[in-house]
Order: sequence, then structure tokens, then C-alpha cells
Amino acid sequence: MELGSILQFLEDKTILVTGATGYLAKIFVEKILRVQPKVKKFYLLLRAADAKSAAERLRDEVIGKELFRVLREKHGASLHSFISEKVTPVAGDISYEDLGVKDSSLKDEMWREVDIVLNFAATTNFDERYDVALGINTLGALHVLNFATKCVNVKMLVHVSTAYVCGEDAGLIPEQPYHMGMAKKGDSKIDINFEKKMVQEKINELKLEGVPEKEITSAMKDLGIERARLFGWPNTYVFTKAMGEMFLMDRKDDLPLLIIRPTMIASTYKEPFPGWIEGVRTIDSIIAGYGKGRVTCFISGQQSTLDVVPADMVVSAIIVAMVARAKQHPGDHLSNGFFVEKSFQCLTIFMILVFAISVSIHGLIRRGSRSKLAKELF
Ligand SMILES: NC(=O)c1ccc[n+]([C@@H]2O[C@H](COP(=O)([O-])OP(=O)(O)OC[C@H]3O[C@@H](n4cnc5c(N)ncnc54)[C@H](OP(=O)(O)O)[C@@H]3O)[C@@H](O)[C@H]2O)c1
Repeated sequence: MELGSILQFLEDKTILVTGATGYLAKIFVEKILRVQPKVKKFYLLLRAADAKSAAERLRDEVIGKELFRVLREKHGASLHSFISEKVTPVAGDISYEDLGVKDSSLKDEMWREVDIVLNFAATTNFDERYDVALGINTLGALHVLNFATKCVNVKMLVHVSTAYVCGEDAGLIPEQPYHMGMAKKGDSKIDINFEKKMVQEKINELKLEGVPEKEITSAMKDLGIERARLFGWPNTYVFTKAMGEMFLMDRKDDLPLLIIRPTMIASTYKEPFPGWIEGVRTIDSIIAGYGKGRVTCFISGQQSTLDVVPADMVVSAIIVAMVARAKQHPGDHLSNGFFVEKSFQCLTIFMILVFAISVSIHGLIRRGSRSKLAKELF
């Protein structure tokens, strides 16, 4: 796809992003602000008590990050006014209807202005409390869809899911949507409303018995794993993400929907610079261990594949998929949705990432040496 048509698509667009303090969303926002400064506006939904705290989170956990270094260098002293003009922080929470946005004039403004909605928000803990994961990954996805349908100019909803909604299937896995109630195992159908009710009843019961909060948390975690396994998924995270997809497929009506299912996301490959990562998540603990010299070897079967994809490639794939989806004729889409998966299953990429992150870690330890080393490697 031509870069020109991508830039043209993004020009003058107003984009709502949930999960804006998260790893992937930040890379997405930075990329668009950098490559298409003529984007009209971003509304960034952040969990915060009020507008002031949302603005603080935007400053400290998004714009203030090293990720924005290239943009900072590009704009110099005018970065502050550029960000103020282009980015509006919104205090909210996707577990609630209307995304928990209390400021009604801001909500009306978003319903009037937003062209594209991207849902990055999720709890990515594999063994999250069932009530929490259901509230964010499943019902949260529905709340984002409901919000998007209230936006009078909305052109598309992009939902970031995970490749592992496939559960433990092996071999070639077709990119098929999950329809409401589809279980991966057994004959029973999943009734999400029943799951919701059951969780609430269980919590009420435990509270009535005076069970301490710590034990309620543990019971809720166990319940999540139990329900996930009952229906054929290995953990609460992927099970609740799969149910989120079900809601979207079931309720999207004629809203163009794009579901992105990345595999394990690691550090950036090239943009805005190589090796940027935040936190220690899935495969990152091994990479960090290698970078710090604690993991000196990594045992792997010759036939094994490793599902890892650099974050900037995922973001580029999302943007290209958005443009491709927008260009599709209304009757053109694949069954009920359009799915893109960008997965890189090769050890070479993994090793590149290992070097990228080790460069990053060395950079943290020995400030100033990183960019030189990074240039040598890439
Ligand atoms: N990282 C991976 O390897 C990977 C792989 C495949 C798919 N994905 C998917 O990609 C998306 C982004 O992942 P990520 O790694 O960037 O996740 P992340 O860094 O853990 O960020 C998650 C974001 O969601 C926000 N959030 C959580 N609950 C929320 C709520 N109730 N309301 C509003 N915001 C809420 C978090 O806000 P707080 O800062 O307030 O907690 C945070 O900003 C997720 O949907 C995930 O399932 C990730």
C-alpha cells in the first residue's frame, strides 16, 4: 500500500484510543503524531478520577516517555502546543457504559467528532480475577462498541485482540470470527450473561460469609481458570478476550469492525527507534534476563516456532489494515468481519529482539551508549 494513501486517510481524522497508557497504544499514538501531524485530534481515554489526573497521566505515562524522544526532537519547544492542540485526555473506564466518561460536554463532543475508535484497553494478566477480566476484556469491548455506535461520524471500530483466542489449537488456524456462544470444547454454549450473573452471585455469597478480600481475589482467580478450561481455553485472559470478540461480532450491526490478533508483542524493531519496551511481560522476562546476563542460554527445539512480533510492526499493520478496511466496498468484507494477524514465527526475529533489548538495557545502565550501539546493530 502506498504511504501517500495512508497519510491521506489519517489526515483530518479524529481518533478515540482506549488503553492509552498501555504499551501498544502509546506506540500507535506516537507513530501517527510523527508521520501525520495533520491528524485532527486524538481523544485518549485514561483511567483517572478526573480531568486533572487524566492530564497528569498523559504527561507522565505517555508523552513524557522516552518513546516520544523523536517527536520531541522534531518539534522542539513547540511540542507542548502541538500536543495540546492534537491530544485531549479523557478520564474514563471501559468497564462502564459510556466508558465511564462523566464530563457530559466532553462526551457530546466525542460523539460529534470521532471518526475512528481503537480499543487497546485490556487486562493482560493471564490469571486475572474473573470478575475483573470479564468486566474489562468482555463487557469492556461491548461498552466501547456501544460508545462507537453513538459517534455520528464513526467510520470504523478497531479492536485489538490476541492471536491466542485460538486457545490451544495446533497447526494451521484459519482467521475465523468467534460467533456468540462458541466454545472450543464440549457441546455447551457460552452464555455471557450467565457468566456475569454467576460471578456477581459468587462475590455476594463470599461477602455475606465475611470472607476476606484476599481470599475473594483468590476464589475469583480460580473461578476464571475453571470457566476458561471448561470451555476449552487455557487461561482467563484469552477466554475473556474471546468472549469480547463474540460480543463485537454479535452486536456490531453495520459498523465496520476490524479485529487485530497479534501474537506476543516485544520491543520496537525500528520505529521510532529500535529496542523500546516497557515493563516485563510475556517473553520479555527472558529477553531482560539475557540482557542482564542472567540467562546465558535458551533451549529450543529445532522445529519449534516462537510467536513474537515487534510492537512497531503491529502498529504499522493496524494502520495499514485500517486504510484497507476503509477502502473496502461495504459488501466486500470477509463474512462478518475483517481480520488481520501479523505474526512472526521465527527465531531470527527473536534474536534480533534479544539484541535490541539488550542494547536498550545496556543503554539504561550506561547512558548515552545505546543509540550508537543500536545504529551498529540495525
Ligand atoms: N502485549 C502483548 O504481547 C499483546 C499480545 C497480543 C495482544 N495484545 C493486546 O493488545 C492490547 C494492548 O496490549 P498492551 O500490551 O499494550 O497492554 P498494557 O500495556 O497492559 O495496557 C493495557 C491498557 O489498558 C488499560 N486499561 C485496563 N483496564 C482498563 C479499563 N477498565 N478502562 C480503561 N483502560 C483500561 C490500562 O490502563 P491502566 O494504565 O490504568 O492500567 C493500560 O493503558 C490489549 O488489548 C492486549 O490484549 C497484547
